Order: sequence, then structure tokens, then C-alpha cells
Amino acid sequence: MKVGILGATGAVGKEMLKVMEEKNLPVDELRLFASSRSAGKVMKFHDREIIIEVADEHSFDGLDYVLGAVENEQSKMYAPMIQKAKAIYIDNSSAFRLDPDVPLVVPQINPDALKNHQGIIANPNCVTIIGLMACAPLHQVNPIKRIIASSYQAVSGAGAAGMDELLKQMNDLHEDREPVAEVFSHQIAYNLIPQIGGFDEVGYTSEEMKFQNESRKILSDSELKVSCTCVRVPVLRSHSISMNIELTNEMSVQQAKELINAFEGVQVSETYPTPMETSNQDTVFVGRIRKDLTCDKGLALWCCGDQIRKGAASNAIEIMEALMK
Ligand SMILES: NC(=O)c1ccc[n+]([C@@H]2O[C@H](COP(=O)([O-])OP(=O)(O)OC[C@H]3O[C@@H](n4cnc5c(N)ncnc54)[C@H](OP(=O)(O)O)[C@@H]3O)[C@@H](O)[C@H]2O)c1
Repeated sequence: MKVGILGATGAVGKEMLKVMEEKNLPVDELRLFASSRSAGKVMKFHDREIIIEVADEHSFDGLDYVLGAVENEQSKMYAPMIQKAKAIYIDNSSAFRLDPDVPLVVPQINPDALKNHQGIIANPNCVTIIGLMACAPLHQVNPIKRIIASSYQAVSGAGAAGMDELLKQMNDLHEDREPVAEVFSHQIAYNLIPQIGGFDEVGYTSEEMKFQNESRKILSDSELKVSCTCVRVPVLRSHSISMNIELTNEMSVQQAKELINAFEGVQVSETYPTPMETSNQDTVFVGRIRKDLTCDKGLALWCCGDQIRKGAASNAIEIMEALMK
């Protein structure tokens, strides 16, 4: 199998290399691409040393799969070149997620959507993946009508530069220097920022609307209603979400636990999960499952998952594995 990674030097790209190594995937050839800032640098894959390149229109020739870990603008620029090379493009940006010709896939939830791809497959937003991994086991037996959610999103969701900014601000504060905010709109060290993405005309951010719009597409349910507040928190990795879910029929806490534990890739925690304990692995953990006191057919829960892994790199590689089969 011949694979390319676009954005190999970023938070998601580096994790893709790690996940492919861990899974010992049969990669005969690996090409790594990034910006001109990284061109010529070397990254390791098993014992191979691979020189990072800036992709051009012939860079993708002969590849079977290209895993995308770049921003929308670059994704849109490279997608036609990847399609021309007849490689399958699995994209982590939001450039194609709502395109009706592009499947939006979480392999544990809607693997059948992969059957209709036309060369591009989109990886959903990280909050959407982690939230839906907790919701899908319930939704499949008792459709969810409405979700009210608040997310607590790690700084690495804004890429490698987001992690650097939190660490630098902490260091600056400890050494009595004024912290500088460049990646985030406010100081993130010892703070929370209730804005991820730009605001729309009714006051929701782009990140918040992704949860509703992408969930509708993944679950094939255009009636699903999601109202979300996304908050950046000073945590390095693993996103957490508090959700109140209204189902079609009443469901006991015990049944919800059993359904979640029976679903691949998600697990009920004995107490409750935290970002620290759920980092660097692929399972989404769910805890604090309880009755919603405001709604007879409702449940409240808390979930955490590593958004660089299950929310991005690992999900994309699971898509590639599903296609390989
Ligand atoms: N981080 C997450 O938790 C997460 C989760 C889900 C989805 N995503 C999505 O995944 C994508 C990558 O995110 P990330 O967090 O990994 O970002 P990141 O850490 O900022 O990495 C960005 C990557 O893009 C490369 N790049 C920048 N400009 C380029 C250009 N002109 N041509 C080619 N490559 C270029 C960078 O290369 P250089 O190192 O050379 O600059 C780097 O490899 C984004 O679309 C993001 O929205 C991220």
C-alpha cells in the first residue's frame, strides 16, 4: 500500500504516523508533505527516514491513499491533484464535509456511507466524532431528538501552535513575564474562552454548528436538533463534552450503560473520565450517566476522548483500513 500524508508535521499529521506504526499497517511507500517551512526536514516511520516535500501536481502519482491534515484552503488546493492521481483522499479539514458527494464517516457509526465515495472521504469534526461515539449506541435503538451540549476543548484542537501557546504562557506567567496571545483570542493559561470559530448572525460559532450539521449527515437524520456551546480550556489534549440528550422514548441509566459498553470504540467509566486519563488512546469514555431532571425521556452524560486520535488521526486511519478491506 502506498500512502501520502499532507500536513505530516502538524499535530494530526504526526499522530497519523504514530498510529500507522502502532497498527503496523502494510505501508510499502510513504510520502510526507508539508509547507516550504518543513521541506527537506526528515521524519521517521519505523526505521525509515523520509524527507518532507512540498507537494506539486505530480507528487500524488502512484499513491493509493492520501491522508489530509491541513487547513481548508490547502485541502481545496490539493484535492483536485489527488483526484487526478486517482488516490483516495481522506480529509481532516472541514472543506468537503457537507458536500453531498463526499461521505462523512465514523467507521463504527456509518461505515456503509463509504460505499458511495467518489475519491474524497471526509473525517468529521472532533467534537462531533467524540460526542456521537457516546450518542450513537443510544440513537440506534431509541432515536435522539435533541442534544444540548457544552464542550471543553483542548488547546491541541487548534494544532501544534495551540499547545505551544498554552505552554509558553504558563512559563511566562511563572517567570513574571506578560503572556502573549497569538493563536487564541484571549490568554488561555488559567482561563477559558467560550468561542471556537467565528460567530454566525444568531450568535453560534462555526464549531458549534458543525456538531448539529455533521451529526445530521452522519446519522442521516435531518430533524436532529443540537444546541452547543464550545469552550477552549487550558488542557493539552482530549476534548470533554457534557450532553443532555432527549430520546424518543424513556431509557434507563442501566440500559444506556449496557448499550454504550456493547458498542465498539466507546466505554462506560467506573467513575468519570478526564482529559488526562483519556489522552493518547482511541476509546471514547462516558461517565456520569444519569436521568435528565428536566425531561422524562432525557439522559445527561459526560464524555471524553482524545481528539487528535479518535477525533482526527485514528478515525482517518480506521477509514483507510475499512477501505483496504
Ligand atoms: N488538532 C486537532 O485536534 C484536529 C482535530 C480534527 C481535525 N483537525 C483538522 O486537521 C487539520 C490539521 O490540523 P492540525 O491540528 O494538525 O494543524 P497544525 O498542527 O497547525 O498542522 C498543520 C499542517 O499543515 C501544514 N501546512 C501548512 N501550510 C501548508 C501548505 N501551504 N502546504 C502544505 N502543508 C501546509 C503544516 O506544515 P508546516 O509544519 O510546514 O507548517 C502542518 O504540517 C485541520 O484542518 C484541522 O482543522 C484537527
